[in-house]
Amino acid sequence: MIRVLFVCLGNICRSPMAEAVFRHLVDAAGLSREIAADSAGLGGWHIGEKPHIGTRRVLAAKGIRHDWLTARQIAPTDFERFDYIVCMDAENLRELQRIAPPGKKLYRLLEFAPDINEQNVEDPYYTGRFDHVYQLVEAGCRGLLAKICEEHGLPR
Ligand code: 4NP
Repeated sequence: MIRVLFVCLGNICRSPMAEAVFRHLVDAAGLSREIAADSAGLGGWHIGEKPHIGTRRVLAAKGIRHDWLTARQIAPTDFERFDYIVCMDAENLRELQRIAPPGKKLYRLLEFAPDINEQNVEDPYYTGRFDHVYQLVEAGCRGLLAKICEEHGLPR
């Protein structure tokens, strides 16, 4: 199993959106036995909560399932359990670099979306732009899935 962990600050807006979108794409590609996804927050303020209403609304509007999502905080064991740790912005990346074991490869979601002219998935908790964030997340998730398939010789 190839394991992907999406990480943001609170695990209620961006990373649960990415988890749901990515799982949707993995299911559609018939790869749910090969690729698993989860998400976590760097902070613990929202542990146990469902995603933000803005994230739930945008996922529902796209017909993407998300009923299992519950916020949790990243744990030290996550760095061993997950093959791809994918965060949302430069601030997340700095914090992950601080707590990750030396040498652990870390990614930013929009590295996988070369056609998007942004490096950071902005935080809709502050901007309210959930639809824009969805566009970024979808592009990043598509690119990430393509990269994983290429790296592991999986069919698409
Ligand atoms: P997220 O957004 O990192 O995309 O889940 C945030 C959610 C909550 C907070 C910050 C960002 N907060 O400070 O509570």
